[in-house]
Amino acid sequence: MAKPGDIIVGLDIGTTKVLAVVGEVGAEGVDVTGVGESKCGGLRKGVVVNIESTVASINEAIERASSMAGVEIATVYAGIAGSHVQGMNSNGLVTVGNHEVTGDDVIRVLDQARHIKLPLDRQVIHVLPQDFVVDQQEGVREPVGMSGMRLEARVHLVTAATTAITNLTKCAQRCGLEVAELVLQPLASAEAVLTEDEKEIGVALVDIGGGTTDVVIYVDGSLVHTSVIPLGGQNLTNDIATGLRTPLGEAERIKVRHGCAMNSMVDPTESIEIPSVGGRAGRSIPRHVLAEIIEPRMEEIFMLVKHAIAQSGYGELLGAGVVLCGGATLLDGCEALAEEVLALPVRRGTPIGVGGMAEMVKSPAHATAVGLLKYGVNRPSAVPQTLNLSGSQPAQGAQLAQGATGRVAAVKSDPTEAAHAVDGDKGFGNKLWNWMREVF
Ligand SMILES: Nc1ncnc2c1ncn2[C@@H]1O[C@H](COP(=O)(O)OP(=O)(O)OP(=O)(O)O)[C@@H](O)[C@H]1O
Ligand SMILES: [Mg+2]
Repeated sequence: MAKPGDIIVGLDIGTTKVLAVVGEVGAEGVDVTGVGESKCGGLRKGVVVNIESTVASINEAIERASSMAGVEIATVYAGIAGSHVQGMNSNGLVTVGNHEVTGDDVIRVLDQARHIKLPLDRQVIHVLPQDFVVDQQEGVREPVGMSGMRLEARVHLVTAATTAITNLTKCAQRCGLEVAELVLQPLASAEAVLTEDEKEIGVALVDIGGGTTDVVIYVDGSLVHTSVIPLGGQNLTNDIATGLRTPLGEAERIKVRHGCAMNSMVDPTESIEIPSVGGRAGRSIPRHVLAEIIEPRMEEIFMLVKHAIAQSGYGELLGAGVVLCGGATLLDGCEALAEEVLALPVRRGTPIGVGGMAEMVKSPAHATAVGLLKYGVNRPSAVPQTLNLSGSQPAQGAQLAQGATGRVAAVKSDPTEAAHAVDGDKGFGNKLWNWMREVF
């Protein structure tokens, strides 16, 4: 865990906005000390398509956050998303040398699980351990110290397109920022809005942003499914602009001010003012006309979410239902429509677990940035010092477990050293498990 006094920065580079959140680690947790937001037009559906424009937005957001917090920002935890992101479950299998599982066996098996055949233009950004099998014993969370001959790891791998990773990293670097790590955006959002209980019971987090809708599923405390739907709030705005023949800017304003995801919730006598295009006079329309445009699109998004959940095979295991976040879920009636379509209990999630100026980041649209901050706080945390897994400075004779930025973790290549490290340390299994869940 980051030490008291450490400054951590989460940087959410979204389709509609860049949000930087600065946090100072205290004895009790992390306090938000600075927030900077800027409009962003350099991304399409979560992917950088215009470097110059994205760089300008990042600079603006970072400058604001930096001056509010009164600190220089040099390193950030940045989010990555887009339809190119794919999640899959994989496993690794190794033979246990001394018939007792060591930390090194665990690292070897996780390393093996990540080595799947990938096209040259893709790379692994996360290896998230789910559980282990020691000989016939399934569902093991802390295999270190257990007796057995073979160790199997079940993991969730997240892969992304190399060009998307490179362009995002390039934008941050052009702003003079070092990317400590690229983190899957919905993984970060989950960190901000989900409780540990929900993750244990089984929950789907649905982050509906401007360009994409990201779905992640947790069962038994582990991430088991990731998918991205290329639809979001911008589609609603486009539909409204076309349907009401009004400019995009006005359509956005009308959506935010008067939009409703469920037609049946709108008072049939209520009317709203619509400015028209081409200098023609504005007009007044019943509000339910707007809802009639929005509802089918939101329904489509939730139908696709339902399909993603069904395809994942974990639909029956979502005891804690669905949690919504992302700016588009601020729409009136969003939870009610989601409950109707998904036939699951739904709540809207706002960031939790941060202090300081937490009031400034309490919207579902702030979930990713706050989650990136929390991820950064926990990230180096459980790294067992005995294994010298400090990331940027791998120990001698170590090899890198390559992540998005190539600085994920250093893995000892000498099994005897790792074995020494775990010998006699009863709390090590716990530490290692926490570390693996947070770090890989
Ligand atoms: N009160 C509101 N009612 C309806 N929609 C809203 C409201 N506030 C924001 N939105 C919509 O939320 C979307 C932006 O959400 P968010 O900030 O989560 O997206 P993003 O992170 O920029 O994009 P993405 O995650 O897709 O890359 C926009 O389409 C915006 O119109
Ligand atoms: Mg987002």
